[in-house]
Amino acid sequence: MVLGIETSCDETAAAVVDADFHVISSIVESSIDQHRAFGGVVPELAGRAHVTTIGPVVNRALVEAGLDPHDPEIDGIAVTSGPGLIGSLLVGLSAAKAYALAWGLPFVGVNHLEGHLFAPLLEQPGLEWPLLTLLVSGGHSMIVLQSGPGQHEVLGETIDDAAGEAYDKVARWLGLGYPGGPEIDLLAQQGTAGSLKLPVSMTGPDLDFSFSGLKTAVVRATQRHGDVALADVAASFQRAVCEQLLRKLRSAMEAHDVKGVALAGGVAANSALRAGVEQLARDFAVVAHLPTLEMCTDNAAMIAAAGLYRLGAGAASSLGLSADPNWQLSEV
Ligand code: KG4
Ligand code: ZN
Repeated sequence: MVLGIETSCDETAAAVVDADFHVISSIVESSIDQHRAFGGVVPELAGRAHVTTIGPVVNRALVEAGLDPHDPEIDGIAVTSGPGLIGSLLVGLSAAKAYALAWGLPFVGVNHLEGHLFAPLLEQPGLEWPLLTLLVSGGHSMIVLQSGPGQHEVLGETIDDAAGEAYDKVARWLGLGYPGGPEIDLLAQQGTAGSLKLPVSMTGPDLDFSFSGLKTAVVRATQRHGDVALADVAASFQRAVCEQLLRKLRSAMEAHDVKGVALAGGVAANSALRAGVEQLARDFAVVAHLPTLEMCTDNAAMIAAAGLYRLGAGAASSLGLSADPNWQLSEV
């Protein structure tokens, strides 16, 4: 059994996962309420929140797994060591090192994005490779080809904003709350997508994305048509984002013979994107892996799963490991 710890952004999370990738316990505490007023995560506040929350969250994860929180019978510890906010990463990493030292256990630093890639495996243990995954969150947007667990190749990624970041920025422009993704998604379901003419960016043959032009287009279009309903703006924006994401994913499916297609990251909660990926899976006669909401967003079970794999492969870290706020998935 592996204890996973995740503190890369505003969620303080701990989880216990067993050798068969069963989630025994998973606790997530978010400091998002402290950030709402600022329209985005304030790194200093997130770091401070992790300091007070990490101990109790780890305790709860161990107790809920039926383990003694003072001397748990586990085999290792996995912790996100990048990418993310440096002040937040350091809290989880320091805690993981302290527990590893106190309990005499191996620990491993895990890449947060690799963690997201392990999420579908936790809910569908019989999952077959190769797999194409669209990983879309507030910080990242990429298409990844996975030939097996821990074996991944980034086929394309955003050249500017992440998809979730675009949602959050457009929501802010429209006067909606933070995070903007869920609010726009809900509103979009009551609007008409053709109401605003918005460009679908990056229509070339490569698999990269771009969302900053779309955000500017929404600003311009709403300035020009002041009377357009909010729901119609949301629906038009959502369609433009999903069309770009799904078009590129379709191109990747055409170029690679895979057994399944998966969604990962916070934006994977999006209703239109989920429907689009299900359709894509039907078109190519492959399995669609759509993790539940709890597995899409940041959690420690996915970190424990990646750690289970890495520790199993003999990749334990030394206590000298430092956090890397810019750790790229392609460097793993
Ligand atoms: O993966 P995540 O929880 O955190 C990281 O960025 O690592 O993703 C959060 C992002 C936010 O930008 C949020 O607006 C977006 O996911 N999001 C959504 C939806 N739910 C969350 N975006 C579009 N539609 C949604 N339903
Ligand atoms: Zn994430």
